[in-house]
Amino acid sequence: MRPLLLVLCGLLLSHHTPLYSLATDTLSRGRSFAGDERLVSGNGKFALGFFPMGTSNSSSNLLNWYLGIWFNKVPKLTPVWTANRDHPISAPASPELIVDGDGNLVVLAQGTSTIIWSTRGRANITANDTVALLLDSGNLVLRSSSNSSRTFWESFDYPTDTMLPGAKIGWNKVTGLNRYTVSRKNSIDLSSGLYSSKMDLDGVGRMSWNSSAVYWSSGKWNGRFFSSIPEMSAGSSLANFTLVNNDQEVYFTYTILSENAITINVLDVNGQMQLRAWAGQDWFTINSQPRYQCDVYAVCGPFTVCTSNADPFCNCMKGFSARSPGDWEIENRRDGCIRNTPLNCGGDDGNKTGMTDKFYSMPGIRLPQNGTSIPNASSANECAQVCLRNCSCTAYTYGKDGCSIWHDELLNVATDDNGEMIYLRLAAKELESRKGNKNRIIIGVAIGASITTLAGFVFLVVIWRRRNKKWSSRKTDNDQDGVGIIAFRYVDLQYATKKFSEKLGTGGFGSVFKGWLSDSVAIAVKRLDGAQQGEKQFRAEVNSIGIIQHINLVKLIGFCCEGDRRLLVYEHMPNGSLDSHIFQSHGAILNWTIRYQIALGVARGLGYLHHGCRYCIIHCDIKPQNILLDTSFVPKIADFGMAKFLGRDFSRVLTTMRGTIGYLAPEWISGTAVTSKVDVYSYGMVLLEIISGKRNSPKHSSSDEDRADYYPVQVAHKLLDGDILSLVDANLHGDVNTEEVERVCKVACWCIQDSEFDRPTMAEVVQFLEGICEPEMPPVPRLLDAIAGGTPTTGL
Ligand SMILES: *[C@@H]1O[C@H](CO)[C@@H](O)[C@H](O)[C@H]1NC(C)=O
Ligand SMILES: *[C@@H]1O[C@H](CO)[C@@H](O)[C@H](O)[C@H]1NC(C)=O
Ligand SMILES: *[C@@H]1O[C@H](CO)[C@@H](O)[C@H](O)[C@H]1NC(C)=O
Ligand SMILES: *[C@@H]1O[C@H](CO)[C@@H](O)[C@H](O)[C@H]1NC(C)=O
Ligand SMILES: *[C@@H]1O[C@H](CO)[C@@H](O)[C@H](O)[C@H]1NC(C)=O
Ligand SMILES: *[C@@H]1O[C@H](CO)[C@@H](O)[C@H](O)[C@H]1NC(C)=O
Ligand SMILES: *[C@@H]1O[C@H](CO)[C@@H](O)[C@H](O)[C@H]1NC(C)=O
Ligand SMILES: *[C@@H]1O[C@H](CO)[C@@H](O)[C@H](O)[C@H]1NC(C)=O
Ligand SMILES: *[C@@H]1O[C@H](CO)[C@@H](O)[C@H](O)[C@H]1NC(C)=O
Ligand SMILES: *[C@@H]1O[C@H](CO)[C@@H](O)[C@H](O)[C@H]1NC(C)=O
Repeated sequence: MRPLLLVLCGLLLSHHTPLYSLATDTLSRGRSFAGDERLVSGNGKFALGFFPMGTSNSSSNLLNWYLGIWFNKVPKLTPVWTANRDHPISAPASPELIVDGDGNLVVLAQGTSTIIWSTRGRANITANDTVALLLDSGNLVLRSSSNSSRTFWESFDYPTDTMLPGAKIGWNKVTGLNRYTVSRKNSIDLSSGLYSSKMDLDGVGRMSWNSSAVYWSSGKWNGRFFSSIPEMSAGSSLANFTLVNNDQEVYFTYTILSENAITINVLDVNGQMQLRAWAGQDWFTINSQPRYQCDVYAVCGPFTVCTSNADPFCNCMKGFSARSPGDWEIENRRDGCIRNTPLNCGGDDGNKTGMTDKFYSMPGIRLPQNGTSIPNASSANECAQVCLRNCSCTAYTYGKDGCSIWHDELLNVATDDNGEMIYLRLAAKELESRKGNKNRIIIGVAIGASITTLAGFVFLVVIWRRRNKKWSSRKTDNDQDGVGIIAFRYVDLQYATKKFSEKLGTGGFGSVFKGWLSDSVAIAVKRLDGAQQGEKQFRAEVNSIGIIQHINLVKLIGFCCEGDRRLLVYEHMPNGSLDSHIFQSHGAILNWTIRYQIALGVARGLGYLHHGCRYCIIHCDIKPQNILLDTSFVPKIADFGMAKFLGRDFSRVLTTMRGTIGYLAPEWISGTAVTSKVDVYSYGMVLLEIISGKRNSPKHSSSDEDRADYYPVQVAHKLLDGDILSLVDANLHGDVNTEEVERVCKVACWCIQDSEFDRPTMAEVVQFLEGICEPEMPPVPRLLDAIAGGTPTTGL
């Protein structure tokens, strides 16, 4: 398969180095084109022509021809519209496009009169002077040449899997036309797949599988964004999103405010709607909906376990193998997996030879839908017996909701940290193998490639157990680690905080209150909400900052763990968090020296987390809100609720996306394993905010200036121009150390590079800021630049 794909790619590339073109955007009546000829839109951005593509038939390498539109200047062929996706023209016949005598657009196999595709039946042509025109937006229109407002047909009305800026997705209520996108069948075949994304008449976008199972809904439009995509509001400085719902139409559309940006919205072959930008060398996914790959209905097919962010994210369940491995390679997994050994199904023979089917337990699982509840099974064993009695039963679970069993195919099974245990029915033979292997197999199935996650988890458990033992006594001051964490009683904390009366703030997972210990030490008490989530965060936090100490990390004094109450006690930081100082126009302004000290302190704290402890700890949520300031404005990193541990020998961890929009490194969104460089990226974003005194993503604003100058990109450009003082917070009135400003700008710009390999380590950042090394001039971060649509980068 691989060599074939390479051959195809080679062909496509050579085909698409523009040899010559009609160099026109218009095809008039009676004219035709074939072969390498093409129309190019007036702005040179789009091309229309024929292109070849392989099919999914792995035993033959015939090429098919399609009429389509692609980005003329993007070297990687990206069809944004295809006329005949489900009716390819098989080579060697070569196709021809004409504007026929009746004014319709028609694709013929050359030399024959076989019509492969045409606009007949869709276009109502009432003029004898039609022309086909490729517009600057990438829309192919068929219209009257004498009256340009008489459009008979347009490609935007018949989208394939891509929505271009300016296109509409939704209904024309008058004509009944519904425009929606349909995914392609697999990664090398453009024909229609099973996923579709539609705008319904109620103004809510929905994605569905095989036109039946709805697996995602956009929620209601609130004038600026859909309720399930709040990140759209952050993007409003880059794009203009619109929902129109009136008597004639209901549709969604968007425009990108920068002319230069190349973006598309694609319903991916795996059922996710992805907003992608061209970042110089490849497409980069900015946003995916649904956020987690495993939330796409049946994405891995039956009898699989899906793990979002793992690579590969689909794995067969134990005792199963891929039904068609060739299809898996080209991202078509709808056939899923099949049993290696058929079930015995309680046949008499089986009973005699002890070969009845057995169950295999899989922990941490998001259960499949549509289980049958068995209310009268009152134990796990009875539940298992009910399942064994029916040959079509394939799995059961016995949890707090009692017994449920599943028949036939198991769909939509995914790993889930908070998930349940499911028992999978397998032929006894599958489970005969050495018992000692059991745990390893479970892990292999359930966690797939994310071995590093596991290492972190085991470590947590070990620490947790060890701590638990110690904490059984009330006070553990002066233990050999010198950590000295106090286990508080709830009543003590109630007293210390005057019944939680003085609230300092509300963060993720809980609220923070001020209190006093008897020796008049001020404390901050964090009370975690939500039983399950709170527990996770509590453990993460105690485990990470409970075992480490550094001047630039907030100190954990103690905790309380009574019943389902979870509280954490920290030293109190009189100056609050960094955001309350840098984003405020009133009150005292932090002077440059203090800002520089904060930048350096945070870098040291992070450097210690990444390199200084026995285990590398990735904080995962660096932002100004999580940087606290003590009386002398020494910064302390706080809020370790999302931190990830990495074992000594691991540098990467696969984990669900965590963090805060605006500070998220690109690799989070692309779903690959992350390293400590995600913290470096977030740190870079924070540095920029420290310099400018403004948030990087401006609140929704209509002024043109704000839009054109996305601050992080502006910094990169101004650095190159040597004009950095204009970047500094105006409130400082130029009272800064120019050399330091330049250094901080350079460091920040290196930290926010697209590729983690281009970013410095925190240890290097510390060296730069201490002036031990001098950073080189950073390149403009391509991705941010592409999104912001800055001027094309000058040879960088
Ligand atoms: C592939 O295509 C060839 C010719 O079109 C056909 O004979 C063959 O059966 C196909 N193979 C598969 C697996 O579909
Ligand atoms: C075509 O357009 C004409 C005039 O605009 C209209 O009368 C006719 O009903 C249309 N036909 C179809 C099939 O839409
Ligand atoms: C097109 O129709 C107009 C009248 O509607 C007529 O004057 C003209 O000659 C026609 N042109 C052709 C090429 O048939
Ligand atoms: C062009 O077409 C539109 C809509 O069909 C019509 O309203 C308008 O009068 C036409 N203009 C001319 C100059 O024919
Ligand atoms: C999709 O739905 C149709 C009926 O609507 C059904 O015949 C077909 O088998 C379904 N496809 C799959 C893959 O389940
Ligand atoms: C956004 O789009 C709508 C409709 O397309 C338009 O009316 C509005 O002026 C646009 N806003 C901006 C800021 O471009
Ligand atoms: C299987 O064996 C069990 C005891 O080992 C017995 O109770 C049961 O009736 C047998 N079932 C069949 C179908 O023979
Ligand atoms: C599964 O359950 C959902 C509701 O939970 C229902 O809408 C759907 O029709 C069910 N599907 C089948 C195949 O029974
Ligand atoms: C549960 O009830 C059904 C009929 O309602 C019966 O056939 C089955 O044996 C019962 N199962 C148990 C475990 O009691
Ligand atoms: C097994 O369960 C299926 C689905 O509930 C049911 O249709 C079938 O009749 C059952 N078979 C037996 C032997 O109970």
